[in-house]
Amino acid sequence: MSPSAPRKIAPATGRLGILTPGLGAVATTFIAGVESVRRGYSKPIGSLTQMATIRLGKRSDQRSPLIRDFVPLARLDDLVFGGWDPIPDDALTAARTAGVLNTAELDRIAPFLSGIVPMSAVFDNRYVTRIHGTHVKAGKTKRDLADQLRQDIRDFKARNQLDRVVAVWCGSTEVFIRPGRQHSTIEEFERAMDQNDEAISPAMLYAWAAIMEGVPYANGAPNLAVDTPALQRLALDRAVAISGKDFKTGQTWMKTVIAPGLKARMLGLRGWYSTNILGNRDGEVLDDPASFKTKEESKLSVLRTILQPEVYPDLYEGFSHVVRINYYPPRGDNKEGWDNIDIVGWMNYPMQIKVNFLCRDSILAAPIVLDLALFSDFAQRAGMKGIQEWLSFYYKSPMVAEGLQPEHDLFIQQTKLKNTLRHLMGEEQITHLGLEYYEP
Ligand SMILES: NC(=O)c1ccc[n+]([C@@H]2O[C@H](COP(=O)([O-])OP(=O)(O)OC[C@H]3O[C@@H](n4cnc5c(N)ncnc54)[C@H](O)[C@@H]3O)[C@@H](O)[C@H]2O)c1
Repeated sequence: MSPSAPRKIAPATGRLGILTPGLGAVATTFIAGVESVRRGYSKPIGSLTQMATIRLGKRSDQRSPLIRDFVPLARLDDLVFGGWDPIPDDALTAARTAGVLNTAELDRIAPFLSGIVPMSAVFDNRYVTRIHGTHVKAGKTKRDLADQLRQDIRDFKARNQLDRVVAVWCGSTEVFIRPGRQHSTIEEFERAMDQNDEAISPAMLYAWAAIMEGVPYANGAPNLAVDTPALQRLALDRAVAISGKDFKTGQTWMKTVIAPGLKARMLGLRGWYSTNILGNRDGEVLDDPASFKTKEESKLSVLRTILQPEVYPDLYEGFSHVVRINYYPPRGDNKEGWDNIDIVGWMNYPMQIKVNFLCRDSILAAPIVLDLALFSDFAQRAGMKGIQEWLSFYYKSPMVAEGLQPEHDLFIQQTKLKNTLRHLMGEEQITHLGLEYYEP
């Protein structure tokens, strides 16, 4: 496809602040990893912005630069970290508590991590019942609280002499909230903040504050935050890039790899049973049925959208899909997942696929936080605003324009991401047609 004119993209000069509401397992593993890469102790494995290449032009052109050499992204050396948490532990203490990284690894960067101290959080036990925070802001109304967050962002920026800031939600999953009138317009949303309406959760206040400050916002958890008509409108009005939701890391990532493979081969599915054991704090939060319901909604939608039973009733109508997460403390962050997939082949013969995934949740999530931060900052500098659907690659429940089905297939998401980069940089998009090699 012929190239479009390159966009005007502001250069990534100066320092970029990355704020994470939530300084728990994922956020500290992300920060520790970036510091360890900066010092040459490890490679940024799992990060597209740091390790992936992008093909440009024809296959015979042999042009495949690293993405970070092709698009102007902030450099790792220019990143500054901060966050909020209702638990006052600094990043070193929080990382030790999370138990993802070993002591030797943490000792090498201990002074750096202990210098990152969370700001007091906007937190309310009604939305996350299993955490008992003490480091919490007080305010008469939810708007007061959100205004304090805005001030925090400004102070963080000034204190660290930052050019730009992005926010990636790494806080606990909040209870399930149905979108209502309060989320329908900016006016309704702000009125609800003034009236301390229950439908406005802390995560939404962070999202509102970030957008008001012109800070791109990425939502790593499945709860409702920036995915409401009100905040989407605000993001468009204020020209801020937003994306979400729920980092796609373990079992769901595997689903978005395997299910497109089944569908590509026109193999049927009778059922997909997924269960996990997980012992970290996230597992504990998800042990609360209300928080789990938020996660479950996010996990269940994936297969249906990929397999399209309405288009392929003979293959996929009525398949059973069950997802369980069991809190099991001995495993800590090292989740173990089992999938049993009942598939159907030629002449209706049943077959089974079993997947036993021994993964490390935060190790998979950390590079996603990095990529989302760098790409969101890039999108903002490229003048992109509102929902960034091209970042669907990173999410279990990608946000899309109203009336659109999200795209869940990992490989379509990857193509979309890379084609968006090509488009923004004025390069030809790749269709994989390839006839030109045979019909010159
Ligand atoms: N690790 C993964 O693979 C993965 C995948 C998808 C989504 N997620 C989501 O990412 C989030 C973080 O996961 P984690 O393993 O780091 O969990 P965690 O429990 O280790 O950390 C979450 C932190 O958020 C804090 N927090 C809770 N409410 C807050 C608020 N209102 N403001 C600021 N901080 C708040 C908690 O005190 C805690 O320190 C969770 O929502 C989880 O569901 C993780």
